[in-house]
Amino acid sequence: VRTVKKVGIYGAGGVAREVAWLMGDFVAFIDDAPKVSELRGKPVLSFNQFASLHQDASVLIAVGNPRVRERLAAKCKAAGLSFATYVQSDLKVDTSVTVGEGSILYHGSTFTVDIQIGQHVQINPGCTVGHDVRIADYTILAPGVSVGGNVQIGKGVWVGTGATIINGTPEQPLTVGAGTVIGAGACVVGSLESNCLYVGVPAVLKKRYATEL
Ligand SMILES: CC(C)(COP(=O)(O)OP(=O)(O)OC[C@H]1O[C@@H](n2cnc3c(N)ncnc32)[C@H](O)[C@@H]1OP(=O)(O)O)[C@@H](O)C(=O)NCCC(=O)NCCS
Repeated sequence: VRTVKKVGIYGAGGVAREVAWLMGDFVAFIDDAPKVSELRGKPVLSFNQFASLHQDASVLIAVGNPRVRERLAAKCKAAGLSFATYVQSDLKVDTSVTVGEGSILYHGSTFTVDIQIGQHVQINPGCTVGHDVRIADYTILAPGVSVGGNVQIGKGVWVGTGATIINGTPEQPLTVGAGTVIGAGACVVGSLESNCLYVGVPAVLKKRYATEL
């Protein structure tokens, strides 16, 4: 497990409780509007409380929405807080795999070689990520997602449970545009546009989102 001793988990919902369970050792949850003062035996602090009490701690953003993750990361940076990175100890991570700060790699996934994982990415249990894959900042892979080789996933993409993205080629990687959502169980067989919803097997365009990431 690659981690920093003093970590604050930003969030107090389901993802935050999962990350707390994975980490075991952390100082507090951070919640913009705390509803409880304690969770899993740890204090739940407002952002300002955390920033004043724990300037020396690092933050892990544990929120299941890429756009919110981006906003919270900017807020932490502006307050001078640094970020932790969490890679679960059972993962066999090759030296050719890079993991950006703030990212969380849950247990039970497989990563092969020459993979770049950006900042504040979240990879849930049971994913497989093939060679020469790039995953940009804030993107989330839900449980059981399979990504073939030579795939480039843009910033803030949300990939639903059990989705498959087939491989691209070195000459023509398969690309998923920033801000796109891929529904649970979809099979992506070609490059996808930005800020759209794709569902089904094979995955087809279902709608375009009004706001850009
Ligand atoms: C795609 C998803 C995000 C829903 O997005 P949404 O914007 O709320 O979309 P809607 O529910 O309005 O559905 C839009 C259309 O897509 C269809 N659709 C939604 N999800 C679908 C899926 N996974 N597969 C196939 N079709 C799907 C709906 O039936 C609807 O079709 P219609 O317009 O013909 O009636 C959601 O259905 C999904 O798949 N979520 C993944 C959940 C998950 O993996 N969670 C893991 C948590 S870690």
